[in-house]
Amino acid sequence: MKLSVIGCGYLGAVHAVAMASIGHEVVGIDVDERKVQSLSQGIAPFFEPRLQELLTAGLASGLLRFSSDIAEARGSAVHFVCVGTPQQADGDRADLTFVHAAFDALLPYLSSGDVVAGKSTVPVGTASQLAPQVEQAGAVLAWNPEFLREGWAVQDAVDPDRLVVGVPDNAAGMHAAARLRAAYYPSVEKGTPFIVTDYATAELVKVSANAFLATKISFINAMAEIAEVTGADVTTLADAIGHDVRIGRRFLGAGIGFGGGCLPKDIRAFAARAEELGRGESVAFLREVDAINLRRRARAVDLVVDALDGAVLGKRVAVLGAAFKPYSDDVRDSPALEVAVRLKGLGADVVVTDPAAIDNARRMHPQLAYEADRDATLAGADAVVLVTEWDEYRRELDPVHAGTLVSNRKIIDGRNCLDPAVWRSAGWTYRGMGQA
Ligand code: UGA
Repeated sequence: MKLSVIGCGYLGAVHAVAMASIGHEVVGIDVDERKVQSLSQGIAPFFEPRLQELLTAGLASGLLRFSSDIAEARGSAVHFVCVGTPQQADGDRADLTFVHAAFDALLPYLSSGDVVAGKSTVPVGTASQLAPQVEQAGAVLAWNPEFLREGWAVQDAVDPDRLVVGVPDNAAGMHAAARLRAAYYPSVEKGTPFIVTDYATAELVKVSANAFLATKISFINAMAEIAEVTGADVTTLADAIGHDVRIGRRFLGAGIGFGGGCLPKDIRAFAARAEELGRGESVAFLREVDAINLRRRARAVDLVVDALDGAVLGKRVAVLGAAFKPYSDDVRDSPALEVAVRLKGLGADVVVTDPAAIDNARRMHPQLAYEADRDATLAGADAVVLVTEWDEYRRELDPVHAGTLVSNRKIIDGRNCLDPAVWRSAGWTYRGMGQA
């Protein structure tokens, strides 16, 4: 099948290589010439496991190419719109500028029977606003949200756990659903749930899934706050409640909270959209979810200040991690970086390391000092704060060896990913989140 993918960022680039890897002929289109050039030369523009491998293979097979010319979308059976929907600069709503620009640019190149599949995360009601112009071009709009997780994005794109397609309730809608079934044929053949629904449900599935995940994380972080004043241990608590299959242990990792390009802006946009719809109170709890989440960043900073006995000025703090989560170089709304920035603001001599995200972090926060080498980062540190749970820190950092590098053996585990007993027995003062 001939496919176009409009927008080659974290979502679109992964979607394009994934669709080429299952045998489709794909053109990825982006307005950013540099991105197109890099992808065309086989250089993945960001770090994502297996992306490089699939990009190289796709280009070599001749099935995958990239262009900055939207006219190249002409003749594709499905046009996947994968552009970003960031938070508005002056509010909580989603900024749909890129979505509107992509649709406006694409419309002249649509042919009768084409399917336009929106994958961007949009406020509920967006698809029904966009549909008439697509229909006027003789094409049909489907909303096909994406659930990929950074760090697992290629796997999630190639083998999703469900496919959701919102279409109009008519013959054109059935045609669109059938064509998307054909586009996702390996998953469909494998029996992956393929849910055909209306636009509003498809849009809401996406934002409600992210809202639920954010709520789960903030729930356990709220328990961490209670644990901190009662002497309870939030990790044991999460293990214990997680054994209840109705609750489940996943996404009950207490720590410095969620960040990234999705959960924070999606819950804010959802709350803002609900308010527009006159149902603000239905998801008012998401404001609380956001507030709990942001408090955890402040808590990690307080623990570092405590470890330094309140005297932060000029103290060397080694910050392990910059990415918003491991296996990603994404630093958008990264809790890890915010902790580093706040410590720097308090006058600490902060040095940040990360296995993948230093370049992106430096672009966003040039005022921080960065060090690629983990041991050099630790050298002479008065306190260490672990903020992204990369294997390099969680599994591979030996407390005895690390203890020989630092000035003071004080570690704040912002992700509750180290074994406190092991670190304490190596002579460290260990503080986690949601623990006494
Ligand atoms: C999230 C969703 O998980 C995906 O399903 C969705 O497709 C994606 O947003 C999106 O909308 O595009 P992602 O942002 O890649 O994916 O990251 P998550 O794995 O959800 O992690 C988000 C944040 O929560 C990270 O900062 C992570 O460190 C934090 N987290 C996660 C916790 O603090 N505790 C946990 O137990 C789990």
